[in-house]
Amino acid sequence: MGYQLGLIGYPLGHSLSPWIHKNFLKRAGLKGTYELYELAPDSFTEGIQAFKQTGITGFNITVPHKEMIIPHLDVIAPEARTMGAVNTVSYKDGKWHGYNTDGSGYVRSLYLAYPELKKKQDQQVLILGAGGAARGIFHALIQAGFTKITIANRTTTSAQKLAEEAPLQCEVFVSTLAEVENQLANYGLIIQTSSVGMSPNVSESIVEINVDLTDIIVSDIVYKPLKTAFLQAAEAHNAKICYGHTMLLYQALYAFEIWTGQEIDETGLADELQSILEGE
Ligand code: ATR
Repeated sequence: MGYQLGLIGYPLGHSLSPWIHKNFLKRAGLKGTYELYELAPDSFTEGIQAFKQTGITGFNITVPHKEMIIPHLDVIAPEARTMGAVNTVSYKDGKWHGYNTDGSGYVRSLYLAYPELKKKQDQQVLILGAGGAARGIFHALIQAGFTKITIANRTTTSAQKLAEEAPLQCEVFVSTLAEVENQLANYGLIIQTSSVGMSPNVSESIVEINVDLTDIIVSDIVYKPLKTAFLQAAEAHNAKICYGHTMLLYQALYAFEIWTGQEIDETGLADELQSILEGE
């Protein structure tokens, strides 16, 4: 029967995760399935209890359940505990284990696109947004060795709350979106983590870009569309850009490794995923 895998969320709509994991299974030479399971928040507790009895080997869990799943698990990995959110669940040795691969997947995708970043962890990083995605990325950047991070958010109190989670050796600043808009050139890496600019609101951008960004890496985790208005503006101002679909791919790759213990060669999959997204 092989691996019984899936994704729980609500609503799920059209998800690319089945395509990604079916590719991984094929490349790893493993038998298995990856299905979508919509579970409404008001029936989460009963739903998840029943789901755990279905023989599922492992699953991803997404919005709005990443925090709600925690009390239903036996072991929480350190990164998931720090982030207060789980995106990957694995059933091993009679126990349910929770992990979070979002942030580490993001950092891996960034390093693959721009390997020089591995030696530039002392540069100033700007995170735009302070929601769940920002939190995962913030902690993964700290884990990867970045020490100077500014969080700018529409609601400054959320940015402040996130900043307080940093260890003492990090210099974390909190700012408003308006303030950082005039200082974008002061950062070496700018990461857009909010949903602003996501289809259908494709003309929206979290901040306007009015300065030259030569040598600055600008990344957007939105991947529908692939080239968001924010990335278009960054490119027009000479930034090096990083698309959001690779975060999706690498968080999935780490999840797959947790479930199967297998490392797979993902060569070419980012380009295939890009073609699918461009065709949608
Ligand atoms: P996720 O878990 O996917 O990160 P979230 O927790 O709802 O989603 O966070 C969304 C982020 O996008 C937040 O930082 C939010 O800002 P607020 O904290 O002020 O709500 C930000 N965001 C959403 N819509 C926005 C908009 N129109 N302008 C600026 N920021 C926005």
